[in-house]
Amino acid sequence: MEFAELVRRRRTVRRFETTPVEREVLEGIAALAQRTPSAGFSQGQRLVIVTDPEQRRRVARTCGEDEYDEAGFGPWISECGAQVIPCVSEAIYHRRYREPDKIQDDGTEIDWPTPYWWVDIGKTAIVVMLAAHDAGLAAGFAGVMDINGLRTVLRLPEEFHPIGVIPIGRPLPDKRSPSLKRGWLPLDEFAHWERW
Ligand SMILES: Cc1cc2nc3c(=O)[nH]c(=O)nc-3n(C[C@H](O)[C@H](O)[C@H](O)COP(=O)(O)O)c2cc1C
Repeated sequence: MEFAELVRRRRTVRRFETTPVEREVLEGIAALAQRTPSAGFSQGQRLVIVTDPEQRRRVARTCGEDEYDEAGFGPWISECGAQVIPCVSEAIYHRRYREPDKIQDDGTEIDWPTPYWWVDIGKTAIVVMLAAHDAGLAAGFAGVMDINGLRTVLRLPEEFHPIGVIPIGRPLPDKRSPSLKRGWLPLDEFAHWERW
């Protein structure tokens, strides 16, 4: 799909077929997501890809899936083809910025003006979602309510933080988010020229 069309047509989908997504397709999505940039090429981003239905249900519970189900969205986090969980390690960034080419003359790490680990993992997440759409699938995004629960389910190393769960699969008709009633900002409110 052409890039502009892909970006315009992507939306958060909240209902999927449970037919599995082929391993090669998931590997292709992961390989594209790995290409997202990172501060100092720290590469603190990782993905956990879950295909097993029972494991998907355990993951979905940490996102409060029952509440979505009660609200009429259905079990859209567990019922999908696969889940992709983007995880990030802030510690990797600190270790990277203590390496010789990054450490400051006084021997200290930079005073981070922005926590770029959150920036970078967000970029990774959107590439996962766009790559899924580009592969003819759809993707959603669910925030995680129980971070430590998800850490345990996925057996994440201590320093990794899972930022959300991206269910991927063939789309089914879904209930749209009531938030969409807010509508898009006008472009001139979003984009400012030369100065704000
Ligand atoms: C950081 C982030 C967290 C989100 N968390 C949730 C969530 O927990 N549950 C949910 O249903 N949608 C979640 N969404 C999806 C947003 O509601 C959705 O992106 C927004 O309403 C715009 O809709 P669209 O993605 O279809 O354009 C999240 C999106 C982002 C970027």
